Amino acid sequence: MVNIILLGPPGAGKGTQAKRLVDQRAMVQLSTGDMLRDAKTSGSEMGRKVAAVMDRGDLVTDEIVIGLIAEKLATPSVGGFIFDGFPRTLKQADALADLLLQSGQGLDAVIEMQVDDAALVARISGRYTCGNCGEVYHDTTRPTKAAGVCDACGSTDLRRRADDNADALRIRLMEYYKKTSPLIGYYYAKKQLTSIDGLAEMDAVAAAVAKVLDRQE
Ligand code: AP5
Repeated sequence: MVNIILLGPPGAGKGTQAKRLVDQRAMVQLSTGDMLRDAKTSGSEMGRKVAAVMDRGDLVTDEIVIGLIAEKLATPSVGGFIFDGFPRTLKQADALADLLLQSGQGLDAVIEMQVDDAALVARISGRYTCGNCGEVYHDTTRPTKAAGVCDACGSTDLRRRADDNADALRIRLMEYYKKTSPLIGYYYAKKQLTSIDGLAEMDAVAAAVAKVLDRQE
């Protein structure tokens, strides 16, 4: 069992690689973005509270996301957890360390996916996902085999995210550099950080991720 964080700016490929690890290594993906989007569509009070914040590209409060993760960590995972989009602030990183300690677990590796801003814009502007199973596609780099039909589950519910537009992306990137990028130094100091080239092709990125995981087992 290996617990890892996938760290990187919006569009770095965290979700894409997390989905592969779920399929190949029986790991559990804990994506705070997906949890918050589920809350939005469920119409819950929390979902209504976070909707405008997310659509704008700002970060949701630490308390809300830490609460979401705390709940999920109670579920057992055979292969380990993939933290995708969490932590995003130093406060969240400290909270994760405490939560893992309380549940008798540890953090094995933090994988920073390095991608330049121009590539991020191209990736985000072409992204669409399956509303049923969450599979991630792209207009040019990874289109569905049959137009409008998810390769993984056959659903025709393919969607684009409300925050995948130029204005929100500008804010999301700024939030990343201001509040999340300090985590690179934080985990480097803890000797848990490995940086990989997120600009490489998806299979090459997957191989780099696998190399880090194999070192932990
Ligand atoms: P979240 O859902 O976490 O979004 P994000 O971090 O902005 O990351 P993305 O999902 O946009 O990108 P990704 O790295 O997963 O890339 P993907 O694999 O899809 O968060 C959304 C919002 O929720 C936040 O803005 C905030 O409001 C809130 N939130 C979430 N967590 C929070 C927290 N902890 N604290 C506070 N607020 C929080 O890939 C992108 C595209 O590129 C796809 O089309 C894919 O096919 C393509 N692609 C992927 N890899 C490659 C490759 N190697 N080569 C070519 N194309 C590729």
